[in-house]
Amino acid sequence: MLHYPAMTEADLDAVVEAERRSHPFPWTRGNFADSLAAGYGAWLAREDERMIGYAVMMLVLDEVHLLNITVLPELQRRGLGSALLGHLFEVARMRAATRMLLEVRPSNVSGQALYKRHGFAEIGRRRDYYPAHAGREDAIVMTRDL
Ligand SMILES: CC(C)(COP(=O)(O)OP(=O)(O)OC[C@H]1O[C@@H](n2cnc3c(N)ncnc32)[C@H](O)[C@@H]1OP(=O)(O)O)[C@@H](O)C(=O)NCCC(=O)NCCS
Repeated sequence: MLHYPAMTEADLDAVVEAERRSHPFPWTRGNFADSLAAGYGAWLAREDERMIGYAVMMLVLDEVHLLNITVLPELQRRGLGSALLGHLFEVARMRAATRMLLEVRPSNVSGQALYKRHGFAEIGRRRDYYPAHAGREDAIVMTRDL
């Protein structure tokens, strides 16, 4: 059974290890710790007791900003990312948010595919937003009404 407990400091070893395996430019432990300290919403996705992914989002007025969504590499393409995103939509609606916003790298094919599949549309680009192996990479900004 999938469930979505809140992420706590005690989860950070496992989260940081998964993050390093899942992203070419992973968040640091400090990025996660700062998010928790700032009161951002952060959840694990667990299947029974096993962590299969996690997500972090920030609520600003009636808008939520999705900052990180990750499914363990060996468990991708099984619908788990969609389920986790669905959980985030539910939480955001419960908090009266009307729009979800995110940035994604043009090189992140799986991320963009997940978001398009779930109704996100590109509204613009932020130039040189991300560090990249050669220089910087733009961000695609996408939104979806809730
Ligand atoms: C993005 C991510 C969370 C998707 O999780 P997932 O569990 O694989 O997603 P799902 O299985 O629910 O996929 C849903 C749909 O998204 C699309 N999709 C997901 N990964 C894809 C890929 N690698 N290539 C093409 N389409 C993809 C497909 O349409 C898929 O539906 P389908 O399998 O029926 O074709 C996962 O790939 C991931 O953790 N990537 C690394 C971290 C990351 O880049 N996160 C996003 C930016 S923070």
